[in-house]
Amino acid sequence: MVRAHIEEVSRHVGETVTLRGWLKGRRSSGKLLFLQVRDGTGTIQCTAFRPDIAPGVFEEASRLPQESSLTVVGTVREDPRAPGGFELQVQDLSVEAVADEFPITPKEHGTAFLLDRRHLWLRSSRQHAILRIRASVVRACRSYFDERGYTLLDGPIFTPAACEGTTTLFPVDYFGERVYLTQSGQLYMEAGAMAFGKVYCLGPTFRAEKSKTRRHLTEFWMIEPEVAYMDLDGDMDLAEDFIVSVLQRVLAERRLELELLERDVTSLEKAQKPFPRISYTEAVDLLREAGHEHPWGDDFGGDEETVLASRFDRPVMIHRYPAACKAFYMKNDPADPRLALCVDVLAPEGYGEIIGGGQREDDLATLEQKIAAHELPREPFEWYLDLRRYGSVPHAGFGMGIERMVAWICGIHHVRETIPFPRMLERTTP
Ligand code: 4AD
Ligand code: MG
Repeated sequence: MVRAHIEEVSRHVGETVTLRGWLKGRRSSGKLLFLQVRDGTGTIQCTAFRPDIAPGVFEEASRLPQESSLTVVGTVREDPRAPGGFELQVQDLSVEAVADEFPITPKEHGTAFLLDRRHLWLRSSRQHAILRIRASVVRACRSYFDERGYTLLDGPIFTPAACEGTTTLFPVDYFGERVYLTQSGQLYMEAGAMAFGKVYCLGPTFRAEKSKTRRHLTEFWMIEPEVAYMDLDGDMDLAEDFIVSVLQRVLAERRLELELLERDVTSLEKAQKPFPRISYTEAVDLLREAGHEHPWGDDFGGDEETVLASRFDRPVMIHRYPAACKAFYMKNDPADPRLALCVDVLAPEGYGEIIGGGQREDDLATLEQKIAAHELPREPFEWYLDLRRYGSVPHAGFGMGIERMVAWICGIHHVRETIPFPRMLERTTP
């Protein structure tokens, strides 16, 4: 007998197959029993007709609780009325394990209730769709760089120094020594770019974010390319091409999941090159036009990002922020040293910053001054300074938060649903 997966039943029409999965729901009508069975690749309706199967089996199936595991043998039939377009006409059925009463039912549950049961919530069709889209986003991101000659070079998780400011560090006791969970792989990618030319990393990053917003996690995944001999313009070209390419792949690969989420994909389809590029100073003017006075010099928060992004129909790239509100490693604009050669890419529809990056300071003395000006300890950065001592070159890169990208693609409000097991200010379980 053919062992099949629901995702590919269309290839088995008319054949008898074996499916193994879990019971999602059931209803009966006289001699007919309709079982919704999911197997991780999809859900299919299995129709059991009492006279067709052993009497005891029919009775057992009629009482089977949601999430019981089972094996079903039946014939695949095309049926336009069935959800998904196919159904299984059951010939035999065996139960693996009868489930206890499942706490998550089709009725509405509060988010805290669901997050406490995240290990079970993953089985629901919405969460399933979101996390499959996430997997496709990660694959598309990796493929983009793998296919263009980048070397994957992952950075360490335990780090001695702050990359993105000292206020969001998670300290760890490392055999009596104080180290930190990484905030970004960037500094290590810079070392990699000097060794391999073009590199990227993809991994978890950690920020002790005290803010409870829809865009912040304390543990999130970031993909970070870094390229030697690249300037800010090249970096923006790369970020734009990368986003368009990832969107195209995910749209092609995950149509069904996006439909299930009822995502209107027109905003994603509109995200074509070129993305508008405006300077921070122009952005402050745009905010003023929109009736939102913003003091020149202050960084943008979620509210400013939402107003700015709403002025465009595709992601917008905001470059050259005031150096004072950005990280120590950024190169100043030679044309106006108050500015940093950096870029933030803001997604449409209120999703905010999905990419942050820019050109790095490549001059040893300037970098030493910046480390001092940011009141960072010098010693943990000695190795990083070496990169400017031995053949320093212009270089640039960026980081894209996987969860923010997935939230935008899926059109869901909060990033917490875009990662299998979210970590936030008040959540470290399950
Ligand atoms: O702008 P950020 O802080 O940039 C960096 O970390 C650079 N070192 C990256 C680089 O140039 N290699 O973070 C980059 C991206 C943001 O644009 C956002 O998408 C995401 O990481 N991000 C977060 N996502 C979820 N929760 C948080 N707390 C996040 N903080 C940043
Ligand atoms: Mg940023």
